[in-house]
Amino acid sequence: MSDTPQVRAVLMGLDPDAIQHFRPILKGAEIREITASLESLSSPMDPAPALIVCSPGSSGISPFEMAQLLRMNHPGSIILLIFKDSMGEFDRRGFVKNGASDAFLLPQESELLRETLTDVIAGLGIGAMKLKPVKVIDLSGDVALDFDTYLYFPINDKRIQFSKGGEAMGQSRIDNLKAHNFSTLLVPKSQIDKFYAYSAKTLKALLNGDGISETERQERARESVCELLKGVYQIKGSGGFSEGQELVASCREIVKALVSSQPGGREFIERLGAIMGGQDSSYSHLANVAAYATLFAVGLGMKDVQELAMAALFHDVGLQGLSPRLQEAAEVQLTPEELALYETHPMLSVKIMQEKRFPVSDKVHKIIMQHHECFNGSGFPKKISGSQICMEARILAVADRFDELTVVQTGRALMSPFEAINKLRQEAARDPGRMTLDPVVLNKVVALFPQ
Ligand SMILES: [Fe+2]
Ligand SMILES: [Fe+2]
Repeated sequence: MSDTPQVRAVLMGLDPDAIQHFRPILKGAEIREITASLESLSSPMDPAPALIVCSPGSSGISPFEMAQLLRMNHPGSIILLIFKDSMGEFDRRGFVKNGASDAFLLPQESELLRETLTDVIAGLGIGAMKLKPVKVIDLSGDVALDFDTYLYFPINDKRIQFSKGGEAMGQSRIDNLKAHNFSTLLVPKSQIDKFYAYSAKTLKALLNGDGISETERQERARESVCELLKGVYQIKGSGGFSEGQELVASCREIVKALVSSQPGGREFIERLGAIMGGQDSSYSHLANVAAYATLFAVGLGMKDVQELAMAALFHDVGLQGLSPRLQEAAEVQLTPEELALYETHPMLSVKIMQEKRFPVSDKVHKIIMQHHECFNGSGFPKKISGSQICMEARILAVADRFDELTVVQTGRALMSPFEAINKLRQEAARDPGRMTLDPVVLNKVVALFPQ
């Protein structure tokens, strides 16, 4: 006898062919077949099924009404609506609004439906299959991704499987993708860690540049970074903002995976997580700045980015020991005494690293110490300027600024990435003598974003 209770599934209004098709996928579930009628839809089934797969079929009942009635009588069930072109216009959003958990257009989305049903039967629920938008970098025909990818067509709200985990994509498919300007693919949430690992591995290969010339290496690295940043940039204001946020989050995970793949990297991330435990907004600032700084550095052609990534992940940890007011130094007017305290935080960050014996190089300490030095010498703590500040710290300062401008507060970004880049662009165009950020670095970073 199996330990897991059987899933109670109801197939409603499906034609015999479809039922034949679903039976093997729903293996292990207790299945009931019901015809769709106003009567069967109007009363609760007892016991309530965990899963209802329904189709308006030839019942004459509208799919909206079907979704509404089922939801009303089965508030806790997963309701999947199956639709075919011949049944009229496919309106996923409308079906979901009316109560369906999800809707699938067959045969186009049969693979997606199969995966979803498999997840539901395995007890993972419908959320497991949720697709996340991602930018897959440096794709080539002979690469076999170990995760599934889907394409989304907003015009008719269709999601179609593009590639299956483990199979090589083939160059013609990739050319097709590029020809149709598809830069965002969707990956099932349940496989997202594989996507991060792939991206980190690809970035690492681009940093090593095995078997390719330095010029080609830099070009491909730059292209990959532009691809990742494009999605972040395209999101203006509220409408699609969450997709931009998801893409930033995905850049953070890629950079964390990159750091983790180094000797001692995994431990570094875990210990940092323990130090920052619970302080969501501070940790998210560190992770964002690490993502931006690392990608900017890769895009600028740097080969060694591990130390910068680690320094960025740690740069403001020293703020933790200071009062909350000082932690918001950017928004409040500090007294001279408070300012002097605030200016100790780069040193405090390094001190914490040393006390807790983080096994990192002196270079990491140096980058952290210099993250508030300004190109024109107006920064702190040492007021050094220009090339006295190491390149990594100059890049970190730009990333710090970018995150400061775009950080989400109470659900809203202060400035969209689009506006932030425009602001940085204007600043880059100003008199270099007044610059706090390195104008050359700033110009190069701004050029990584679409014009
Ligand atoms: Fe700082
Ligand atoms: Fe910072």
